[in-house]
Amino acid sequence: MKRSIVALLATLAATQAFAAGGGSPKVNYMLHCSGCHGPAGAGNPEVGIPDMRGAIGHFLKAKHGREFLIQVPGTSQTSMNDAEVAVMMNWMLQQFSAAEVPAGTPPYTEQEVRQLRANRLADVPGRRAAIIGELKAQGISIE
Ligand code: HEC
Repeated sequence: MKRSIVALLATLAATQAFAAGGGSPKVNYMLHCSGCHGPAGAGNPEVGIPDMRGAIGHFLKAKHGREFLIQVPGTSQTSMNDAEVAVMMNWMLQQFSAAEVPAGTPPYTEQEVRQLRANRLADVPGRRAAIIGELKAQGISIE
C-alpha cells in the first residue's frame, strides 16, 4: 500500500514537471508532432507532409533554412513554449538527421525560438522551394 502511494506521488511529480515545461523532447514530439509527422519522422509525402529523416539537418546549410525549421507553421504555432520548442528541435535534428547537421552548428536557444516565432513567414511554400533550390545547387536533393 505504502509502496503504491510512493509510486503514485512519483508519477504525479513527473506529470507536474511536464506541465511546468520540463517534458522530455521525445514526449513533446510524440504529443504535438507525431500525429502528422509519424513517430520516426517519416511524414506522409503523398499528402504533403515531408519526410524529415536524413533531411532536416540539410536545411541548416541553406540561407534561412535554420529559421525555416522554427517558422514553419507546425513548429511555430504549437502550444509548446519557446524553451520546449528549442529543446525539441535540437533533439529532432539529432534524432532524425544527425548525419546531415553541419559540424559546429549551435543549438537553438529559447531566445532564438521566441524571435523566430514572432516573425511569421508570409509564404511558407515559397520559402521552402527557395531553400530546396539552394540545396539542389549544392548537390543535395530533398523532395
Ligand atoms: C497537422 C499536421 C502537422 C502537425 C501537427 C505538425 N506538422 Fe510539421 N509539417 C506539416 C506539413 C504539411 C509540412 C510541410 C510544410 C507546410 O505545408 O507547412 C510540415 C513541415 C514541417 C517542417 C519542415 C520540414 C520540411 O521538409 O519542410 C518541420 C521542421 C516541421 N513540420 C516540424 C513540426 C513540429 C516540430 C511539429 C510539432 C510541434 C509539427 N511539425 C507538427 C504538418 C504538420
